[in-house]
Amino acid sequence: MKTASVGFSKSCFVFFLGFCSLLLLLIPAFQPLAHLVDLTQPRPQFRPAPANQAHHAVVPGGAVSAGGAHSDTGLSEARRTPVQTKAIGHENPTPRRDKNLRSSGRLVGSGSRLRPPDQLELKDIFIAVKTTRKYHRSRLELLIQTWVSQAKEQAYIFTDAEDKDLQLRTGAHIINTNCSAAHNRQALCCKMSVEYDKFIESQKKWFCHVDDDNYVILPSLLGLLSSYHHSQDIYLGRPSLNHPIEAAERVKSDGSVSVKFWFATGGAGFCISRGLALKMSPWASLGNFISTAEKIRLPDDCTIGYIIEALLEVKLTHTNLFHSHLENLQKLPADTLLDQVTLSYGGFENRGNVVSIVKSFSLTEDPTRFKTVHCRLYPETEWCPGHKN
Ligand SMILES: *[C@@H]1O[C@H](CO)[C@@H](O)[C@H](O)[C@H]1NC(C)=O
Repeated sequence: MKTASVGFSKSCFVFFLGFCSLLLLLIPAFQPLAHLVDLTQPRPQFRPAPANQAHHAVVPGGAVSAGGAHSDTGLSEARRTPVQTKAIGHENPTPRRDKNLRSSGRLVGSGSRLRPPDQLELKDIFIAVKTTRKYHRSRLELLIQTWVSQAKEQAYIFTDAEDKDLQLRTGAHIINTNCSAAHNRQALCCKMSVEYDKFIESQKKWFCHVDDDNYVILPSLLGLLSSYHHSQDIYLGRPSLNHPIEAAERVKSDGSVSVKFWFATGGAGFCISRGLALKMSPWASLGNFISTAEKIRLPDDCTIGYIIEALLEVKLTHTNLFHSHLENLQKLPADTLLDQVTLSYGGFENRGNVVSIVKSFSLTEDPTRFKTVHCRLYPETEWCPGHKN
């Protein structure tokens, strides 16, 4: 009985030794294998943002969806130091769009030789300028004299009165929307509705909306939009608040629930790709925009944000390159002025609120600084100082 027990222990010990040596043999064999597995594991690949697009980037608190690593990319871009180039900056699109970017074959490069497959031209952009009868002389003429003169075929002026004289004299596209001249929600939404329909009709690739106190820096606008494809879902602009707006959901439900969404402030201008604009059609085309705005009882620019963010679930790409008269424009660094996409001025209530730029004209000749900016961009203009006739 004792022998049997010893024999059992012996064979047990031998078996144990064999098992241990087998393990020792196998461990090194596992190691390279584990290493290999690790290497072939798909790693998230981040497309480095072009250095010239990194400045002025804004990544607001909750705007970049909880995409983990993608959010980090956005943040690191935002923290990057400004690069002194003529190009423009904007936030990296959110993950969903990022995927689209790659599939659409967007080329990213610091040099001008790398271009997206279909190179965007100014003629591909529809720029809607919203105005009203009382500003035809005081505001519109300045725009027609300055940036609109460089974009005659792209700028469409939406107003509420006939002005054959202005149209004949300047050759500008002036569209009488037949909307009320009142500055209320209905009138503003009526104009936006006509702007939308005219854009769809135009077949252009991008819809941009600005106000009659905005200067559009066309090369910057073109540069900004060139980094996307018009078939992607792109909504670009400056949020007027630092948090999303909350409204009762009265389109998809009865208003008992609320929705939170970001919107780009209309006073600074915003742009929408054609791909996205087409998706907005059920709530925006042929007067539907007015009924959508009535349902949620919000102004025109908020309604745009509502349709895009709340109904279509496409995120606003926040950018600091658009500017309204509500900002302190003097704070804009002088050396980045011409890299911005839109500028503005304070107007009657706040005459001092203009961009800081070394004046080319007297204060009475150029109270808004738009002429000075224009002459910096287009020194060949005949009325610019130093122009040789
Ligand atoms: C405004 O009314 C005029 C005259 O009825 C019309 O010819 C024009 O097409 C209308 N404009 C718009 C944008 O509907």
